[in-house]
Amino acid sequence: MAAGFFVSKTLGIVSMILGLGAVATIIALSVVYSQEKEKNAATLLPSITSTPATTPSKATPATTPSKATPANVTNTTPLSLIPEHYAVTLQPFLTKDASGLYIFKGNSTVRFSCQNATDLILIHSKQLNYTEQSGFLVSLQGVSGSSPPPITKTWLETQTQYLVVQLQGPLETGKSYQLVSSFTGELADDLAGFYRSEYVEDGVTRVPLTSDASDVRHDSYRHFLLSHTCEANSNSVRASHRLSALLSVRQRDSRDPPEAPLPCGVLCSPMGSGGSGLSHGVGGFWAVPRRWGFSCSPGGGGATLLTRPVPLPDQVALPDFNAGAMENWGLVTYRENSLLYDPLFSSVGNKERVVTVIAHELAHQWFGNLVTLRWWNDLWLNEGFASYVEYLGADSAEPSWHIKDLIVQSEMYRVMKVDALASSHPLSFLESEINTPAQISEVFDAIAYSKGASVLRMLSEFLTEDSFKKGLQSYLHAFSYGNTVYDDLWTHLQKVVDEDKIQLPTTIKGIMDRWTLQMGFPMVTVNTKNGSISQRHFLLDTESTVERPSAFNYTWIVPVTWMKQQDGAEQMYWLTETSATNQLFVVTGASNWLLLNINVTGYFRVNYDQDNWNKLLTELGTSHEAIPVINRAQIIDDAFNLARAKHINITLALNTTTYLGKEREYLPWSAALDNLGYFRLMFDRSEVYGPMQVSPRLPQVSPRLPQARWIAGSMAGWYNEINAISTACTQGVPECTQLAAAFFNQWKQNPSNNPIPPNLRSSIYCSAIETGSEADWDFVWQMFKNATVVAEADKLRSALACSKEPWILKRYLEYCLDPSKIRKQDATSTINSIASNVVGQSLAWDFIRGNWKTLFSQYGGGSFSFSGLIQVVTQRFASEFELQQLEQFKADNADVGFGSGTRALEQALEKTKANIKWVAENKETVLTWFETASS
Ligand SMILES: *[C@@H]1O[C@H](CO)[C@@H](O)[C@H](O)[C@H]1NC(C)=O
Ligand SMILES: *[C@@H]1O[C@H](CO)[C@@H](O)[C@H](O)[C@H]1NC(C)=O
Ligand SMILES: *[C@@H]1O[C@H](CO)[C@@H](O)[C@H](O)[C@H]1NC(C)=O
Ligand SMILES: *[C@@H]1O[C@H](CO)[C@@H](O)[C@H](O)[C@H]1NC(C)=O
Ligand SMILES: *[C@@H]1O[C@H](CO)[C@@H](O)[C@H](O)[C@H]1NC(C)=O
Ligand SMILES: *[C@@H]1O[C@H](CO)[C@@H](O)[C@H](O)[C@H]1NC(C)=O
Ligand SMILES: [Zn+2]
Repeated sequence: MAAGFFVSKTLGIVSMILGLGAVATIIALSVVYSQEKEKNAATLLPSITSTPATTPSKATPATTPSKATPANVTNTTPLSLIPEHYAVTLQPFLTKDASGLYIFKGNSTVRFSCQNATDLILIHSKQLNYTEQSGFLVSLQGVSGSSPPPITKTWLETQTQYLVVQLQGPLETGKSYQLVSSFTGELADDLAGFYRSEYVEDGVTRVPLTSDASDVRHDSYRHFLLSHTCEANSNSVRASHRLSALLSVRQRDSRDPPEAPLPCGVLCSPMGSGGSGLSHGVGGFWAVPRRWGFSCSPGGGGATLLTRPVPLPDQVALPDFNAGAMENWGLVTYRENSLLYDPLFSSVGNKERVVTVIAHELAHQWFGNLVTLRWWNDLWLNEGFASYVEYLGADSAEPSWHIKDLIVQSEMYRVMKVDALASSHPLSFLESEINTPAQISEVFDAIAYSKGASVLRMLSEFLTEDSFKKGLQSYLHAFSYGNTVYDDLWTHLQKVVDEDKIQLPTTIKGIMDRWTLQMGFPMVTVNTKNGSISQRHFLLDTESTVERPSAFNYTWIVPVTWMKQQDGAEQMYWLTETSATNQLFVVTGASNWLLLNINVTGYFRVNYDQDNWNKLLTELGTSHEAIPVINRAQIIDDAFNLARAKHINITLALNTTTYLGKEREYLPWSAALDNLGYFRLMFDRSEVYGPMQVSPRLPQVSPRLPQARWIAGSMAGWYNEINAISTACTQGVPECTQLAAAFFNQWKQNPSNNPIPPNLRSSIYCSAIETGSEADWDFVWQMFKNATVVAEADKLRSALACSKEPWILKRYLEYCLDPSKIRKQDATSTINSIASNVVGQSLAWDFIRGNWKTLFSQYGGGSFSFSGLIQVVTQRFASEFELQQLEQFKADNADVGFGSGTRALEQALEKTKANIKWVAENKETVLTWFETASS
């Protein structure tokens, strides 16, 4: 509509946990409000989101849906209503209503002031039944003498999930009003919004109602709390006691501006509290009794980086939770496996996860809560930041782990696989690209988290960590309790660059826009003969078409660190052109080599002339420690990926692994196993697999690995040991399968005393199930049902997918749709485990195709696990036939849609096409390489 048409845009959620049953009453309430769209002039009216149950909200006759599509208004019109105060009351009911539903009732009152005249109010609202007031869904009241224009129409937009209020005339600039609504919603069991879940305690099934903020896509952005009442019934005296305890934690800080929006979580339950607490002694830890073991302390976490104090939150582990964790202000909620650690059951991987997730959520208290981005299109800055700081926080808590070294493998190489596709996307979207809940859900992907972290790490490295910190602190200080766009961060970093006189080829914005506004990353190629250096957009399939235009023509400003063997010192070069020539890169001498991207601080891949590649391989074969450990992993990973894109020969890539017999470090091994994993996926249903399993070229991969725990006590050492056992058992090395069987039988004879070291349990359970009988499967299933520690239950659940019996796997897939057997939160990861098994893959694919509509409706159209599901089940696809099936699947379900899996499906199609070509072109060479004895 015309100018003067104003919009408010909010996503919201109210969620609550309610316990049924005499003892186990859990009540949690978290109110999560987001998100204004337009700077300084947004209207955030609270909306109450209930479950996306199958019952859509129904517009009444008085609110006949209009043809107006608020979506096109939101993108262009400045917003004009400023929220001042929110009051939300929620009342969950502990018994089913007459129609057999668990419901909650609630009302909300929002006071806001009018900044710019407007006659339209939009509020995000999802599946709530509003109680009509004078024929409208809401009512509007004057405040302090203001008198609002009459409402002419209210209606619900299903696509964008707006409640729209059309007024007869404009609200008056400078006046305040309040919007009042009352509603009912369903407490379903779908892990979205307000939901209920079940758990078994002392043999009794409890039905708590659980809260999840992931419905606003895992991250809250601005959450607005008004006030709340939590009606505790006579069963829950203890619950109300806990409620007050927790409320006191998240009360407003007196420094907060009075109107400051406060993300909030509230919980009342008989949960236990334990653990050492955080180092600053504020946050406590909470979980269902008997589920919590150890809660670890990630030290200052983000606090060491970000000095502005924020209140440290309580940490709560919930029995059912879709996301990993949710950073509500004052009350961070976690999936149990992301908070609870028990040394008797948890592996080093579980421990790493707990430490990093806590550090991640704490980082969000600054980045996300204290300062909030304006709209979801810039989500990457929040998530990338938290994903980067999670390593810094974990490092300060556990310096002996050297966890920062893992970032290259866990974040950068992981995301480069996706970002090398023509169907990737930039870190930053346009605001207009992100409108619907499914689109919002989809932006929570590896690009936002892992590329975000990688690019911020690159920035921190070329600025130095001290200057980076200074800039962050200045940014956080300037925008506390406010909203930003990513440019605001560049501005504050630029100030530091100017103050500290840091030499850069152009401004921070000039550099960073290249990395955030265009997708992908460059391959930097140097020729050590003539010193030429050039860049080019790295695409896994060089023949794919990039449809997304880029203002920068897919060229980057690249911080290239480099060293030569002769000097051994790191140097810096800025590549600002498509190509350049510099004598710096000329290498003379028979053994001298050039190495680019030291410690892989830059987000790019590197290619060399053949001669330099050969020299690097020779160095690996003779004295590999002359090359930094992260770069030894880089040489392997870059080579395999360059070979996949046909920039180098596949045998060169394979040859990077032949020195591994001497390698004792985790990262190079991990890079090799990861890349050979791709070969396994491509060939484990073909004639190449036999020769690959027994190849004389790779004798070191399996039998030698278990021999030593190379770096005793270090995290990398533990991971090496896990890799060794898991690789050896997967390859069927007899010593390994026998070891596994012996351990397993010992356990079966005395189930209450598990002799298997926690680090090795996943591999040993899997091997035992793979080689074992139906009775073994049943035993593990029973242990899974009885498991009280979630770290243990998770290991058993994924091991159950290792069976080689199609009928057992088929039955297990069916269990995934039965929440009494497999919790909804675990359904997609269980299907993923089955799909990863070569026997289970086609079963899982049939299952997903056959049940897509059910999965989609029951497991939440917005749930972000769909992208993982599509990615895993299609990862072996490498034939025309499979491509056709995938295209058919896309066509068949076009009406249902793919929600957060939409982009993953496009990427799966692209990857399948690339795989088809790769297999056709490389199969013979690979077979020959594996069959030939190394020289
Ligand atoms: C939205 O856009 C469509 C087509 O561009 C237009 O017909 C419609 O009037 C617009 N709606 C509003 C509310 O501006
Ligand atoms: C209010 O509206 C005027 C005129 O349309 C516009 O110039 C101004 O930027 C708006 N102010 C805000 C805060 O949106
Ligand atoms: C909201 O509900 C509470 C509890 O039922 C009630 O006390 C309060 O008056 C209601 N507020 C509004 C604005 O309806
Ligand atoms: C909402 O209204 C629909 C249609 O009347 C009804 O089927 C549904 O049960 C209601 N939901 C709740 C939670 O009251
Ligand atoms: C992109 O290419 C166009 C046409 O070749 C050119 O005009 C423009 O300057 C280039 N932009 C950049 C950032 O290199
Ligand atoms: C590279 O990383 C290693 C391991 O983290 C570290 O010891 C070394 O100092 C780093 N080298 C450079 C040049 O930053
Ligand atoms: Zn996060």
